[in-house]
Amino acid sequence: MQIQPNISLKKYNTFGIDVVAKYFASFNSTDALGQLLQYDDARAATQKNQIPILILGGGSNMLFTKNFDGIVLKNEIKGIEIIREDDNHVYIKAGAGENWHQFVLHCISNNLAGVENLSLIPGNVGASPMQNIGAYGVEIKDVFHSLEAFHLKEKKIVTFSLNDCTFGYRESVFKKKYKNQFVITSVTYKLNKQPVFNTSYGAIEQELEKMGVQELSIKAISDAVINIRSSKLPNPAEIGNAGSFFKNPEISGPEFHKLTQLYPSIVGYHLPNGNVKLAAGWLIEQCGPQDAVSWKGYRNGDAGCHAKQALVLVNYGHAKGDEIYALSESIIETVQQKFGVILEREVNII
Ligand code: FAD
Ligand code: EPU
Repeated sequence: MQIQPNISLKKYNTFGIDVVAKYFASFNSTDALGQLLQYDDARAATQKNQIPILILGGGSNMLFTKNFDGIVLKNEIKGIEIIREDDNHVYIKAGAGENWHQFVLHCISNNLAGVENLSLIPGNVGASPMQNIGAYGVEIKDVFHSLEAFHLKEKKIVTFSLNDCTFGYRESVFKKKYKNQFVITSVTYKLNKQPVFNTSYGAIEQELEKMGVQELSIKAISDAVINIRSSKLPNPAEIGNAGSFFKNPEISGPEFHKLTQLYPSIVGYHLPNGNVKLAAGWLIEQCGPQDAVSWKGYRNGDAGCHAKQALVLVNYGHAKGDEIYALSESIIETVQQKFGVILEREVNII
């Protein structure tokens, strides 16, 4: 455990943005975290001002727009263990620093069902409850049991149940009421011994057919999801990105009806509450800057909008965070002008 000054964060964020953190340290246990915070408190006491703390997982949902004038603490708490089981479920606890996809593969190889649709989402276990990660018809809330988190000020571990987390679409209590207050140290998931297959979303069934799958399994679903994702989402190891840059916006049924009159091919999914969730990728694809018909595939310097998925903004190499941010502003503006819909960023802007 060492606090290092002036560290480039380029390799610590999947956008590949080159900014510098004033201080950087990693921790692999709650005790080590506590010790790091003591240093931070000591520094704060002598400098008479608290320096900002940023907890980092895999850095796959962040856009750094400037140097970070504080301490970045990288969570590397490891370990996966089954803590309990009953006739139908296994309760499996994972350290916040475990890689999410490796955790999913571990569950699949142990015949534990529930997370297979969430295959290949980048990042770590500890961030999975932050925005209630979701894909292909499943969200983390569907398999979540509890988590442990360290309160930064009170220096104590607090356990959160499913209800405590107030999960929503790409939302949790940790992004709102408790923003920057807790470090998630472990998450416990409640997985199924008998799988309940979920293949109805998107192109999963088509992909399973293409793969020639005869007998459905959680491994087959995971492979199908991996294939679909790989075909349209850019691999951060090749092109910098943080997945969907915006959330899919929700509008009322009557508003959607009006838009369908003007734009019959608009893509929306009806929700049980009567509202409609629009595909932001479609909205973005239909708009563009002054000199191009569509944002999709647009590039200005090294900042761009992915050619296969308009919801994903990309860094082709040396884009600065504020260039990506400026592009997102222009996209929000054109979508609002054309459709009257305001896009909200999903990525955390630092
Ligand atoms: P980071 O980016 O490191 O952190 C994200 C936020 O959580 C920050 O505010 C950080 O301070 C906070 N944080 C991280 N760890 C902790 C902790 N232990 N305690 C407290 N706060 C913490 N997301 C989806 O939901 N569905 C998808 O399908 C999806 N696809 C993606 C595809 C690609 C190619 C990429 C690059 C991203 C995708 N994402 C997706 C977004 C991203 O993978 C998830 O949000 C992921 O959970 C982020 O994990 P991370 O460890 O990288 O978090
Ligand atoms: N579409 C377009 N043009 C595009 C992109 C999409 O018209 O350029 C339309 C198509 O009609 C397509 C529909 O939008 O069928 C939906 O696209 P897709 O299946 O790719 O999903 P998405 O709504 O764009 C969401 C999540 C993803 C998640 C996938 C699969 C959000 C913000 N994004 O994307 O999550 O992997 O569904 O479930 O909800 C992330 O959060 O980072 C992320 C990648």
